[in-house]
Amino acid sequence: MKQIVYLLLITLVSFGCKDSKKQEDIQKSSTIKLEKSVEDLTDSIQVKNIQIGSETTADKNRFHTSYPSTMYEFINKHQEEFAQAYLQEFQSAVNNSREEAVAGLDFGQHFELIESTPATIGFLIERYTSYGNNYDSQFFTHIYDIKEEKRLQFSALFAPQENFDKLAALVKEKVKAALQEKMNEMEGLTSSDKSTLWKNMQEQLDEGTMATDKNYHAFTWDESGNLSIYFDKYQVASGDYGNIEIKLTPELYKHLVTKKYQQLFHIQPEKVDTSGASDESLTTSPKTFEVDCSKVPCVAITFDDGPAARTSQLLDILKQHEVKATFFVLGKSAKVQKNTLLRAYKEGHQIGNHSWDHKDLKNLSEEEIGNQIFKTNDVISEITGAQTQVLRPPYGSFNQLVKNHAKLPIILWNLDPLDWKDRNAELVANRMAEAQVNGIVLAHDIHKSTVEAIPEVIAKLKAKGYHLVTIDNLFAGQELEDGKVYSRRH
Ligand code: NI
Repeated sequence: MKQIVYLLLITLVSFGCKDSKKQEDIQKSSTIKLEKSVEDLTDSIQVKNIQIGSETTADKNRFHTSYPSTMYEFINKHQEEFAQAYLQEFQSAVNNSREEAVAGLDFGQHFELIESTPATIGFLIERYTSYGNNYDSQFFTHIYDIKEEKRLQFSALFAPQENFDKLAALVKEKVKAALQEKMNEMEGLTSSDKSTLWKNMQEQLDEGTMATDKNYHAFTWDESGNLSIYFDKYQVASGDYGNIEIKLTPELYKHLVTKKYQQLFHIQPEKVDTSGASDESLTTSPKTFEVDCSKVPCVAITFDDGPAARTSQLLDILKQHEVKATFFVLGKSAKVQKNTLLRAYKEGHQIGNHSWDHKDLKNLSEEEIGNQIFKTNDVISEITGAQTQVLRPPYGSFNQLVKNHAKLPIILWNLDPLDWKDRNAELVANRMAEAQVNGIVLAHDIHKSTVEAIPEVIAKLKAKGYHLVTIDNLFAGQELEDGKVYSRRH
């Protein structure tokens, strides 16, 4: 194991305010630590973290950013600058924030590795930024040509400009259709309201979809070459329309891709059926199980709060030991870790719902509960092509309202190794190994120590004769009821 974590604590002292009331704040602020750490994502890519304040210590203003570090200096320089710019944005927002403001600032950045070949490396970066009440999310795609040591912006992938212009025209039509659909969903608009709104939107739509690298700063593609392009809130329409995402099948755009980069988008000329991806994943999901938990001792290990940076590493471990598990994922994380989630699903693991962004559902209104659950269901089914069958509310916390609106069975656990609290792989492994027959074990794939504990957990539980299975395998043959709570098989 060459995984080393560096922890540097640097006290922030650079708050430049003048009046005496603010002076107190300086003292308070100066006790907030800027924490830096590094950990491995793959053999050649590390995750660097910068953190100021945290949820657990209830700091009012919080900043967390994760960014990649590779074996290529030109990439690291760009990523470092990008992260530092976000940090500066946070620090100046802290300096400008009014003391009487109740809600604090919450800035977060994380990334997903979307491409890694000897020729190109690509990252999708997501920022969740809150200046108090609402979170705005923003995506950025950073692709690098390793041989030429340069960043590939959208215009380089769709060169010459003539091709980029053609693509932009296509995209504009897709965005238009998406906006029109959203407008039709808005209530209380007469048709004349709509036509006025529509007329007023044209300029912003033209500007926001024009063929520039600034407009096309966020995009991903899947294994079949389906290209998704993301537009920020306010970019192509007013804030009411939120973020806009459009999709292009390879048939629509492949003739516009710069020859040299055709490979990048996984464009296979002979492939005709583009809907194949989800069909295929549907059939790879096991519906009949080799293990019969009514006859042999089973344990279901569950991983909450991902997908995250370490999920791929965990999937490698599970694959190596031929073990299936259940992932209770957050909708907002699934959305930016599509490939990881799809991989987990295709490799036979079960995907459950753990809410959109880990709110305590007990404190939410009926409508908010519905949003947390259904938005996440939609993201999961969009990625895997299958409906999720189980819900685990964050913190295992729920009330009657949640039960009524879950429309899914609620799956808790009967063993909590406290892996979120004690970040010690050996300790966590020993606790998880205490699992009982037909039990459900809680764990979190967001923690390095948990992922590191898993090989030992598997060895110990297998030595006891346990079969490690998914939740649906554990309960196979028993009918799970929506809104009912389960913490083990009976
Ligand atoms: Ni959780």
